[in-house]
Amino acid sequence: MRSPRSHNSTTTRQKQANPLSFGFLSKSLAISSLILAISSLILISLYIFFFDESYNYQPSSLLLRTFQKNFQATATRPHSHPPTNLSHIVIGMVGALKTLKHKTAYIKAWWRPNVSRGYLFLDRAPTSEFLPWPSSYPPFRVNEDVTRLKVYPKIANPIQVRIVRSILEIFREGDKNVRWYVMSDDDTIFVLDNLVEVLAKYDHTRYHYIGTSSEFVKSNSDFSFDMAFGGAGYILSYPLVAALSTKLDDCIERYSYSWFSDLTLHECLTDLGVILTEEKGLHQIDLRGDISGLLSSHPQSPFLSIHHLDTVDPIFPSMNRSDSINHLMKAAKVDPSRLLQQTICYHRPSNWSFSISWGYSAHIYENIIPRSTLRRPIETFSRWRNASRPFYMFNTRLPSKDPCRAPHVFYFDSIDPRVDGRKTKTVTTFSRVAPRGLVSCSSSGNHSADSITKIEVYTSPEFRLEMKGKDCCDIVHAADIHTTRVTYRSCVEGEIIA
Ligand SMILES: *[C@@H]1O[C@H](CO)[C@@H](O)[C@H](O)[C@H]1NC(C)=O
Ligand SMILES: *[C@@H]1O[C@H](CO)[C@@H](O)[C@H](O)[C@H]1NC(C)=O
Ligand SMILES: *[C@@H]1O[C@H](CO)[C@@H](O)[C@H](O)[C@H]1NC(C)=O
Ligand SMILES: *[C@@H]1O[C@H](CO)[C@@H](O)[C@H](O)[C@H]1NC(C)=O
Ligand SMILES: *[C@@H]1O[C@H](CO)[C@@H](O)[C@H](O)[C@H]1NC(C)=O
Ligand SMILES: *[C@@H]1O[C@H](CO)[C@@H](O)[C@H](O)[C@H]1NC(C)=O
Repeated sequence: MRSPRSHNSTTTRQKQANPLSFGFLSKSLAISSLILAISSLILISLYIFFFDESYNYQPSSLLLRTFQKNFQATATRPHSHPPTNLSHIVIGMVGALKTLKHKTAYIKAWWRPNVSRGYLFLDRAPTSEFLPWPSSYPPFRVNEDVTRLKVYPKIANPIQVRIVRSILEIFREGDKNVRWYVMSDDDTIFVLDNLVEVLAKYDHTRYHYIGTSSEFVKSNSDFSFDMAFGGAGYILSYPLVAALSTKLDDCIERYSYSWFSDLTLHECLTDLGVILTEEKGLHQIDLRGDISGLLSSHPQSPFLSIHHLDTVDPIFPSMNRSDSINHLMKAAKVDPSRLLQQTICYHRPSNWSFSISWGYSAHIYENIIPRSTLRRPIETFSRWRNASRPFYMFNTRLPSKDPCRAPHVFYFDSIDPRVDGRKTKTVTTFSRVAPRGLVSCSSSGNHSADSITKIEVYTSPEFRLEMKGKDCCDIVHAADIHTTRVTYRSCVEGEIIA
């Protein structure tokens, strides 16, 4: 068996053997790349100048037209293809029979029977307790037996090879009109509408490897910062999977010492010249305990997936795990693009800050707190495992008992799409679960929010959420002192809301 160590020493020896030719090559390469870079810069500036809509310039030069074509091919979906929809996506979940019983509730929370396409890959055929196999689950497939592979004796971790080979097996199903293959664990929960919206931005005719790293620094440093973690789900374009289908077994042989399927895939894709594209809405959740802090300050990006719900507390404190995820999905059904998107606004007469993670939580602070602070998750969660600092891939705030810094916490309770005359309005209610248990913040005027038990958030489908943190809101104190009303609106251009 080839170990990582012997592999490294081979490459080192190769480098030492040709020091001159390597140096010469890299210098001439550097010069030609510089020339290339400068000419493309000129081209891009020309392009921006001539194609900016405000100039309304019709391109005539062949050169520019060619450039425009190439530019569009890489930057956007080719217009010759109809928009991506759910039918273009095939999802492969990989699990094991032993743990299946605990995972079915998670699959049912998001899978759309007879609509979403995909398979659940298992290590063994389902036993009688799962039969007949319900049509509300994705159809199952039993993974090929890796002990029959020629490379089997060399493989360090056969289970992980079984998992990564699901990519081959899903491709061999031969589904028609596939643009994207999504691979995940059996306990990954997706928001399918957002997945469609995000994938529609990419050109499915090119190679794409879309995913996310772990939240936990040590998980990334142990494997790779450039690797997609499969629990969060990763997405491969059809042509990339087609290319992999003839190369993956060779990669498995080349990296037979690999201990992790995601790492094998990353190594194989790197050899194909494909690098990871990060999507911030995918979530591996290598965290423990109460992840409400993270979900209350979600990055401004469509919420795509969540994983490891069995190893964290239920995301709604008054519910168990499966009810919690079904509850979140009630909001997802009404307005998926807004789900978990954070909107911040201020109420000057009482010096309060509001931070709302739509469909999940609402926080009131009895103080004016900058947005840059509120965007940092409160570290309600704990480490995935022991490690040294820094633990997380993002900045956090520590939970505080300071009445000027600790929020009053409300969780998503109910959602009510209403028709008001000719307009539709969605009223989303957030309820207080427990009293804050602190005195009021005196330095900002001693305005207590203790009496508020409910926050009603009004959104209207007339304006679509801009995924750039540009959602604004106004606070209206309702007549009832127990309820506060928040109305979402589009921000005015250049509005400073601090
Ligand atoms: C999805 O797009 C395809 C075209 O690629 C179209 O034929 C199909 O009707 C669309 N499906 C839905 C549900 O819109
Ligand atoms: C899925 O479709 C099949 C056949 O068309 C039908 O028998 C079954 O009831 C459907 N299942 C669900 C959950 O809608
Ligand atoms: C969760 O709670 C609901 C009732 O609140 C119950 O019906 C369901 O069986 C519980 N699920 C689990 C996995 O305990
Ligand atoms: C946790 O990690 C730190 C630093 O890496 C180390 O000093 C400490 O002993 C570890 N604690 C446990 C319980 O392993
Ligand atoms: C808001 O807080 C500031 C101090 O941060 C204070 O000077 C001001 O009086 C407060 N305003 C109200 C309405 O309480
Ligand atoms: C703040 O208000 C509470 C009543 O809401 C009052 O008991 C307390 O004395 C006030 N504190 C200050 C510093 O004004």
